[in-house]
Amino acid sequence: MTDPTPDVVHLRRAGTSVVVSLTDARLPRILHWGNDLGDLSGAELAAIQRATSPTIGDSAVTYPQPVPVVPQLAESWLGRPGVTGSREGRAWAPLFAATAIGFDDTGDAAVLEVDATDAASELALTVELRLEASGLLRARATLRNDGGPYRLDALELALPLPDRAEELLDLTGRWALERVPQRHPFPVGAWVRESRGGKPGLEAPTMLVAGETGFGFRGGDVWGAHLGWSGNQVLAAERTPAGTRVLRGGELLLADETVLGTGEAYRTPWLYGARGAGLDALAAQVHRHLRARPGHPRTARPVIVNTWEAVYFDHDPDRLLRLAERSAELGAERFVVDDGWFLGRRDDHTSLGDWTVDPEVWPEGLEPLADRVRELGMDFGLWFEPEMVNLDSELARAHPEWVFDGGHGPGPASRHQHVLDLGHDGAYRLVLDRISTLVGRLGIAYIKWDHNRYLTDAGHSTDGRPGVHRQTERAYRMMRELREAHPGLEIESCASGGGRIDLGVLEHTDRVWPSDCNDPSERIDIQRWTGLLMPPELQGTHIGAETSHTTRRVATLPFRAATVLWGHLGVEADLTRTDERTFAELKAWVDAHRGLRPLLHTGDVVHADTAPEFRLEGVVAADASEALYQFAVLARPAVWPPPRLRFPGLDPERRYRVEELAVTEAVPAGQRPPWMAADLVLPGRALAETGIEAPSLDVDRSVLLRLSDVG
Ligand code: DGJ
Repeated sequence: MTDPTPDVVHLRRAGTSVVVSLTDARLPRILHWGNDLGDLSGAELAAIQRATSPTIGDSAVTYPQPVPVVPQLAESWLGRPGVTGSREGRAWAPLFAATAIGFDDTGDAAVLEVDATDAASELALTVELRLEASGLLRARATLRNDGGPYRLDALELALPLPDRAEELLDLTGRWALERVPQRHPFPVGAWVRESRGGKPGLEAPTMLVAGETGFGFRGGDVWGAHLGWSGNQVLAAERTPAGTRVLRGGELLLADETVLGTGEAYRTPWLYGARGAGLDALAAQVHRHLRARPGHPRTARPVIVNTWEAVYFDHDPDRLLRLAERSAELGAERFVVDDGWFLGRRDDHTSLGDWTVDPEVWPEGLEPLADRVRELGMDFGLWFEPEMVNLDSELARAHPEWVFDGGHGPGPASRHQHVLDLGHDGAYRLVLDRISTLVGRLGIAYIKWDHNRYLTDAGHSTDGRPGVHRQTERAYRMMRELREAHPGLEIESCASGGGRIDLGVLEHTDRVWPSDCNDPSERIDIQRWTGLLMPPELQGTHIGAETSHTTRRVATLPFRAATVLWGHLGVEADLTRTDERTFAELKAWVDAHRGLRPLLHTGDVVHADTAPEFRLEGVVAADASEALYQFAVLARPAVWPPPRLRFPGLDPERRYRVEELAVTEAVPAGQRPPWMAADLVLPGRALAETGIEAPSLDVDRSVLLRLSDVG
């Protein structure tokens, strides 16, 4: 660590500036997290420090402003402190003094690291701030205990917001309807979202956003926070009567879950901070950061056929062989056998934990199917739920002590299942060995990794202590060990759909499953809001059945397909029973996707701010030379025809040809505005400002529009 001991440092990347005060040996305090401030001299940085210091009247509560990234009660911060804990009733309000500062501005990211100690509390703290090349900010802290055993109750970080942040937006949801936005004014007090089920959950906030009143996708400054962690957690927006606003987050530790022995340390997950003018700019910081990772999937995302909605538990080798053959004819590149293949698993009441192929259903094992799949030019994927167990299983009968138990038995079953405590080395090894053996033997290229029960009673059987933190770490470790043992293995994070979507699990996985809902009327928004975090290539998006298996709504193939065309495409249908005409149409969509995916999986995701009945969203190539948009009508408004389409994200100076991309069905005559009858070329500026008339689509219909630069 270099130690220039600066008073104020300036981190600048990709249009974002973060100005951090380090004066008076205090913990780092962010004075500005916003638009780039340009090159600032030391004197100007000092002036910013002076200019942003509040009046200290006769009240101590103004002192902590701007608040440090680890706020402290001992310096009069009356919001939630960053560190809570105790050493037998002492050291409960630490006050840290910085001892070393390291600032490295030479790499892709600008990195600030501050070491601090509190001798009286016998604690040491390290705070790391990184401004990534994409402009994404992230922060984490490490607390080291230098005294006797210290019970750490919470270590949370806070990212300060400017006083323009007046509205809050975050997400909630439930099974098959994940990521529903909720929005309200930013009150004095705390808006707190807790995940206590051992995963972010179907109701996860995902990204907690604060912004200027009326912000949308294209405008209004916004700041968002996300915790890169797949276990229990808290994300909150807090506003004090003294005027300070922060977004804060950290792991939610259960009672006595983290007791640090002398010399032991606890490190927080990364708290990510994304910002920009509008939600598209905020999401772009995350997308660009993810896409720059060395491990980001860069090969064309293979089109998947997944067996779940085709056969559910009704496994039959001949039928699945036929399904594989039809999948290859369709142009699929990966064939995934979902739940139902292992010992005695005829429904969801039994067998989780028994990860051996069921000899009754598969007398010759899965090898013939896996080999045939490869012969057909596809790779082979298999479903597992490694952290779960049915009480009706060989595993639970042999090792009942490996089932989590909160002190009152294993707790109520959920989907007839319980949670396997991977904190037992034997349980961890057994599951890892079984999966790893199958991956090697069957040449598995892809694991769909499911997680269908909340960890509500996660007591470790020998000492009764909570084991959610360890379980989360062990799940990560198992993914890591599997990928190390089987280079190239891809993993999808699924948890009853989108219950485990976060940047922590993404360090070990290549794809998330946003939802079990494939009904395009709902899926369109599930993907939209999952997109605050995940770029399209990381979102599994499948064409489901005509009648949705989760909503019973009926949707046309063009609407279903156009809605999921954007992501890592898949098909969930029994192709052995699909009529030839539908099969040909499905194939046309798969072909269209394969042609478009280089654009869709590298471009910028954009959304127009439309009336609630409509959606206009798309992907614009990184060099703005082409774009694809979907315009959809989700409800019938009283005012008709629809408002003009104003295309976001284009280069205002370029001229674009606008064409309908009719894969299997064109907009019917009578719904086509006059421009659709002839060649239409307009500058990007006119397309964004003047707009073009929208087709008068029926409800639950959409149209794809392709824009290409005409030079
Ligand atoms: C829940 C998942 O979300 C589904 O996609 C499917 O894999 C089932 N589990 C299988 O049991």
